[in-house]
Amino acid sequence: MSVETTTSTSETTPSTSETTPVRTAHHRRYLMCTPSHFTVNYSINPWMEPSRPTDTANAVAQWQKLHDLYLELGHEVELIDPLADYPDMVYTANGGFVIDGRAYVPKFRFVERQGEAPAFADWFREAGYDTVIPEEVNEGEGDFLLVGDVILAGTGFRSTGDSHREVGEVFDREVVSLNLVDPRFYHLDTAIAVLDPVQGVENGGPERANIAYLPGAFDDASRGILEERFPDAILVSDEDGSVFGLNSASDGYNVVISPRAKGFEKQLRERGYNPIMVDLSELLLGGGGIKCCTLELRPSSARSGTGE
Ligand code: ARG
Repeated sequence: MSVETTTSTSETTPSTSETTPVRTAHHRRYLMCTPSHFTVNYSINPWMEPSRPTDTANAVAQWQKLHDLYLELGHEVELIDPLADYPDMVYTANGGFVIDGRAYVPKFRFVERQGEAPAFADWFREAGYDTVIPEEVNEGEGDFLLVGDVILAGTGFRSTGDSHREVGEVFDREVVSLNLVDPRFYHLDTAIAVLDPVQGVENGGPERANIAYLPGAFDDASRGILEERFPDAILVSDEDGSVFGLNSASDGYNVVISPRAKGFEKQLRERGYNPIMVDLSELLLGGGGIKCCTLELRPSSARSGTGE
């Protein structure tokens, strides 16, 4: 698939000035899981309070809107069957890390989620992915983000430093390790949003690989690395970070974000992106948002980002 459309919605590209780059939407293939068994009956992150009631029907309804939006945007969505004993399985970002048709399977830190890993491994095998079973503790795309040809890898709460080495070997790519220090932002995808995964400069395109991040989620050394590598990054406020504003899904033009992240919404518009708001308040009770519910399935030939 090499078709790149400006946007497949009825939205028009915002008028551009010399300072607002023209953005391009790229086709995406995602893996999602209906939250039919969603609840919070254990706590493995500061957002989860088992004593607070959850509404599974509301979780399903909110999730469905996200699912349908992806289809409206022209993306493909694959589904994995939910397992009754695994209420967190809706957060498919933790179900693996997929590049070039190869799937690196997770090894969950907490026993409560460990039974999800074989189900994801089976799904990948059946779907024809070259499926790699890990030795090291890692939580998939929750902690690994592909930006251009580089893997940004988070550690501090879930995935281990050893998994950063392992993921680099599995995909033969440079890995940049980043230390997360705030327990509310325990996965990298709660603290960084990849806006333009494609390295357009090499491809003759107008885009540069770029990200948005929450500086306070990282230690000084990691912040230094981010500043150096991504001088054009959008820095989001604590306010927007704290409502999981960064836990968003971008196709290079459309960026699906929480409606509570008002400042981030404005920043995205100023940079020529098209923020689209989807409310996953129910799933936030489990400590997850839009990106957590979305695993990108990158087929072969994605290297250097040809869009597909
Ligand atoms: N309750 C889940 C956990 O703590 C939430 C996972 C959120 N996923 C993510 N990609 N950040 O593991």
